[in-house]
Amino acid sequence: MRLLVVGGGGREHALCWALRQENPEAQLYCAPGNPGTDEIARNLSIATDDLDRLADAADMHGIDLTIVGPEAPLAQGLADRLRAEGRLVFGPSAAAAQLEASKAFAKEIMVAAGVPTAVGQAFSDLSEALAYVERHREPLVVKASGLAGGKGAVVCPTRAEARNAVRAMLETNQFGPAGRTIVIEAFLEGEEISVLAVTNGRDIELLPVAQDHKRLLEGDGGPNTGGMGAYSPVALATPVLLDRVKREVLHPTLEEMRRQGTPFSGVLYAGLMIDHTGAPWVVEFNCRLGDPEAQVVLPLMSGGLTDTFLNVAQGKAPPSMKANGYSAVTTVLASRGYPDAPEKGATIILPESQPYGVTIYHSGTSRGADGVLRAVGGRVFTATAVATSFTEAQRLSREAAVSVGFEGKIFRRDIGWREAARLGQGNAAATAETVRGKTIVTP
Ligand code: AMP
Ligand code: GLY
Repeated sequence: MRLLVVGGGGREHALCWALRQENPEAQLYCAPGNPGTDEIARNLSIATDDLDRLADAADMHGIDLTIVGPEAPLAQGLADRLRAEGRLVFGPSAAAAQLEASKAFAKEIMVAAGVPTAVGQAFSDLSEALAYVERHREPLVVKASGLAGGKGAVVCPTRAEARNAVRAMLETNQFGPAGRTIVIEAFLEGEEISVLAVTNGRDIELLPVAQDHKRLLEGDGGPNTGGMGAYSPVALATPVLLDRVKREVLHPTLEEMRRQGTPFSGVLYAGLMIDHTGAPWVVEFNCRLGDPEAQVVLPLMSGGLTDTFLNVAQGKAPPSMKANGYSAVTTVLASRGYPDAPEKGATIILPESQPYGVTIYHSGTSRGADGVLRAVGGRVFTATAVATSFTEAQRLSREAAVSVGFEGKIFRRDIGWREAARLGQGNAAATAETVRGKTIVTP
């Protein structure tokens, strides 16, 4: 079998890793990949937005199945392009990817489908948006409608802050084209979870539920990022809650997408806020696996991923998937200055080996002609640990994060603090509180 993974981050390293485990003999390609995927796949030096060259590569290497990691090429129509050429692809069409690429569109779909989500409205006119802010009660959330790498939502405790965010998007274009249309919505209180549903547009199989840590700083402070760490499974996500999520969120959304003539196939990622009554509210939809969620979810599958991707790419129902019963925690190692202006170029020292169950996935790394591994992106690695208990996985992930060395490394030591508090282990929440506002630099 010839497989192509599109993307070059930690999620794609985890995808390649899982696919390689299942298919030791496969020809596995990754475009563009990274120094981590280079060890288990053949990297193709093609950017994810170069649809022509990706299609040529699929042709040249006789690819049987392409799995698209990031949202941008999906929104640009990579899946449509490959399908038009008769190739099997796991990932939605450009029209269906609008569920992530346009928050205004996602809101319309949710309203039409009766899916619980924050009351809100889309604007491209500055004065109309400012007038809406004046009428809105505090706190409120201002979001760039387009793709902004997880950094396009501004939670505003006051209307004054919301006015600033609106101006930054619609007046001074600080979010670029992504912020030409914005969504202003009510603030939802509760605990967030990431529910990843594999779907052919009608049938659903859920991956193990994960919890991301979007804020930069320990104790969930600081700006939003692409994600600073995650764990899975999440005790909050009971079977009863997940049945409700399927019934109230996933099935109505998929039905509405079919009704509009843009059926969604691939991974429908529902970012949910679970309120104090246990009810789910949609914060956002994504059209692909999460990063870093993939780095905890994929290692928990007991095989069958390739078969699942293949079936969905053929329009068939995803086969039922089983988790292996372990727990996983991943810690993101980022460069000082992330998310605004990460430092680049630091030399990396990776330990020769890691304890059993620990995998270091590469994200923003590059190996120079001199053979030296350097940090080149905001998020540089994710350190995943899989263990028989959450507590053990948390400890191993943290230790793995410490073991990787580069100048300016930052990471959160409190990944999973809500789960630890839920399990009654120590006073993790209190610990997180005391360090609020501090970023941990290389120990
Ligand atoms: P988004 O870009 O929509 O995924 O938002 C990024 C993050 O901002 C979310 O993961 C939440 O933590 C926060 N957020 C976005 N919308 C809301 C909302 N309506 N209420 C509370 N928090 C929100
Ligand atoms: N970790 C959040 C995302 O992938 O969008």
